[in-house]
Amino acid sequence: MTERLKKAYSTETYQMLSQETERVILSALDIALNEKRNVTNFIKADHLYEIWKESNPSFPKMITDIVEHSVLIHHPKYIGHQVCMPLPIGSTMSHFGSHINNGMAVYEMGMAASVIDRLMIEKINPYFGYGDKSSGIFTSGGTVANITALLCARANFDPTIWKEGQKEKIGFMVSDQAHYCIDRAVRIMGLGDDGIVLIPSDQDYKADTNLLEQTYQIAIDKGIRVMGIIGSAPSTATGMYDDLRSFGNFAKKYNLWYHIDAAHGGPAVFSEKYAHLMDGCEMADSITVDAHKMMMMPALTTMLLFKNHEDSYKTFAQEASYLFGHEDWDWSNYGKRTMECTKIMLGMRLYAAWQEYGVEIFKDNVEQCFDQTKEFTELLLNDQNFEVPVNPDSNIICFRLKDATDSEIEKIRELILESGQYYILKTKLRGKLYFRCTLMNPFTTIDHLRQLLNELKLLFAGIR
Ligand SMILES: Cc1ncc(COP(=O)(O)O)c(C=O)c1O
Repeated sequence: MTERLKKAYSTETYQMLSQETERVILSALDIALNEKRNVTNFIKADHLYEIWKESNPSFPKMITDIVEHSVLIHHPKYIGHQVCMPLPIGSTMSHFGSHINNGMAVYEMGMAASVIDRLMIEKINPYFGYGDKSSGIFTSGGTVANITALLCARANFDPTIWKEGQKEKIGFMVSDQAHYCIDRAVRIMGLGDDGIVLIPSDQDYKADTNLLEQTYQIAIDKGIRVMGIIGSAPSTATGMYDDLRSFGNFAKKYNLWYHIDAAHGGPAVFSEKYAHLMDGCEMADSITVDAHKMMMMPALTTMLLFKNHEDSYKTFAQEASYLFGHEDWDWSNYGKRTMECTKIMLGMRLYAAWQEYGVEIFKDNVEQCFDQTKEFTELLLNDQNFEVPVNPDSNIICFRLKDATDSEIEKIRELILESGQYYILKTKLRGKLYFRCTLMNPFTTIDHLRQLLNELKLLFAGIR
């Protein structure tokens, strides 16, 4: 072994890296939680590229510089994307996992992690109303989970497609508010425009269940055979949950695969107060849940749950006959059921949190974030300067200054981003531009939100 390799792997190196990383993490935490710095030091990409190109930092300066040029997720004024402040136990297990680094395509290469994945899914599934026949997999992200579920739906619909390719027009029914990864998945699957049969949304941005029959008929008239229906729980732009029970009844009537994209809001099932939003989810054949959104895990930690264990083997099966041989059910070799080959150890992040704090911590988080969004909505509704397009179901909220034009909203959002005071987003809904926030951080208070509204009003006055 070269001296260089010896040094790179030495115990002293491990110690130095751990100590320095811990120091920088604690310092970043202090800076963020105590608001000693703005939530972001925004710099345009080309400019930052030039800075990094010149700087060539080594460790540990490198990680200090990374913090400097990163959004502080832990900052109470971080209310942007659906990215959580990870529980320390979750990020520690992620770090630990990258040291142990067992790939999990086959059981023998990731024994403990494979068993933990199964145990974790077995703890989760009953909350979604799934029984003894259910199972699931951990995978890297909601996007991957959704395409995996749709592939499974297609295999269920016609097992010959995997080998022979698709010969007819087939598609999925989904709300016009669904996350773009559904549309992308369908196109990757080669289904083209016919692959998506859009269900128009109602005034609350939920799929209009009165139009399900009509939408189905439109598909039939176009010669499209509908394989499945996909519910959003909730949709990304407005955070509104589809009527999951009506979707379930419709799927049953036409014998469709029923998938729920509960990447963001599935964890509502852990709260008695909000579980009603997921009512009917037990009717679904498959459910995507991102633990890196509302379950406080580091990205990416996703579960794809299956109501019937046997379905999960159909997704990537080469031979249709293989599907039905129970002796071939091979739960511990995850490569057969996931898109990934070298799969990282994901379930143990969630397992550690569950063992340490119990399921109650997930309920706490859902209630904290959803309750606070209700309070924020009240604040907006009581301020004549603002309007909301819809009273939010979850912790995603859109709003706008009543008298501002779209270009003024755009400008204000740009000024906020550049000032780094808050991290908020924008989204276009039915032709109108809105500010969009996701309240993910339990350290955000109603005062922070009140200050945000004042700041937006000041900026509006400033540009008028
Ligand atoms: C409803 C929904 N589905 C899927 C995704 C994609 O998930 P991921 O970013 O984990 O791939 C998102 C991300 O925001 C989402 O909101």
